[in-house]
This record gives sequence, C-alpha cells and structure tokens, in this order.
Amino acid sequence: TDPVERALDAFRAGDPVCVHDFADREGETDIVYPAGAVDEAAVAHMRNDAGGLICVAVSDAVGDAFDLPFLADALDHPAVDDDPDYDDRSSFSLPVNHRETFTGITDADRAKTIVEVADAAARVRDDPTAYGPEEFAAEFRAPGHVHVLRGDRDGLDGRTGHTELGLAMAEAVGAAPAAVVCEMLDDETGDALAPADAAAYAARRDIPYVEGAALVEALK
Ligand code: 5RP
Ligand code: CA
Ligand code: ZN
Repeated sequence: TDPVERALDAFRAGDPVCVHDFADREGETDIVYPAGAVDEAAVAHMRNDAGGLICVAVSDAVGDAFDLPFLADALDHPAVDDDPDYDDRSSFSLPVNHRETFTGITDADRAKTIVEVADAAARVRDDPTAYGPEEFAAEFRAPGHVHVLRGDRDGLDGRTGHTELGLAMAEAVGAAPAAVVCEMLDDETGDALAPADAAAYAARRDIPYVEGAALVEALK
C-alpha cells in the first residue's frame, strides 16, 4: 500500500505514524499521534521508543482561539533568538499542564494534558466562538510539561515541519486539529535516529513510515 494511505489509515484508527521530514531540513523522524488518541501507553511509547520532546501541535485557528502566542514573541529576554538553522522559525508556543494533573510529567499527567488539548481543539473546530482564552486558562496552566506547538497559518504552504505534517494528517482524517510529535533519537549515539534505522524500527513494530515529501505531495 501507498505509505501516505497507510499513514492516514493508522491516524484514522488512532495509531502512531513515523514521519521523516526532509534530509535538508531537520532530517529527523518523529513518532506522531492524533492527539485525541493519546493515552498513558502512548506517552510511554514515545518516551521509550522516541526519546525526544513530547509536544502537541494545534492548528493556527485553534492557537488563535486559545490566544496562544509563539514563545519567541511572548518572551522578552536577550536569549530569545528564534532563528534555527533548519527553518525560518520554531513553532513553540506555551508549555502547559492540564489543571487536573500533579507535577504534569507522569505518563498519566501528560496523557491527560494532551487528550484535553485535543478535546478543546475539537470544540474550537466545531464552534470557533465556544472556547476562548478564558476557557483555555480555566483548564490549563503554563508553565507545564507538554509543549504546545502552533501550526503555520498557511499550513503546509507556509511551513513543512513535523508540526504542519502532523496537523495535515489530522485534518485529512477528520480528527481534532491537534497532533502529538516526538523526535526519535538513537539510544547508542544520542544523535537523531538515522532514517534507515527509523524505517527499520517502524517495519518491526508495524508502524507506517512516511516521508514528509510524500505527505506534502498528497495533502498540500
Ligand atoms: C519540538 C521540535 C520538533 O522538531 C517537532 O518535530 C516539531 O517541530 P518542527 O515543526 O519544527 O519539525 O522541535 O520538539
Ligand atoms: Ca526540532
Ligand atoms: Zn521536527
């Protein structure tokens, strides 16, 4: 089967996908989940088998409804310098915890935060006026332990990071406009996991592996 179709079938079922962006971008493979499907086991899967930062991407429309800034715009400190080597800018917004968590870092706490972000994002999609910054603040607090990422306003036309690739898959299957991403690292070297190793892992675990270029081609 076509890798994009396999990836979308998995997403539709709430299952993870391995997404390699581009050799001339980060050159990283993220484990990506539709955010609404994330449970404790999914968080454990990402921290054990991926090992990077667990983030939840929301669409630009959802970021607007929540009034979530880009972190680089919200902070006034001389260290702020959002100029990565691999792209024009990062997609980081606020790191949050759901208020019904304790420290926010446990598998249960992160799953709770993520699933509630997905639920809030779905509410915004269904009615953009129903859920605003006050509702967001009543449910979540920052700082927290799940990094919210904001998708580009023009989606894949504006940026082709894992942020937008994950959101494009969520949109394609009609899931909430929220996707969880976590970079796969090499346990031996600590480097980004090589694409061939990521693909082999995915095959071993029966997880679809898809290239960013294929997703852009199919979904842009
Ligand atoms: C947050 C990141 C990751 O690279 C993640 O994949 C999202 O970022 P991007 O959209 O830039 O790929 O930096 O851990
Ligand atoms: Ca990154
Ligand atoms: Zn990335």
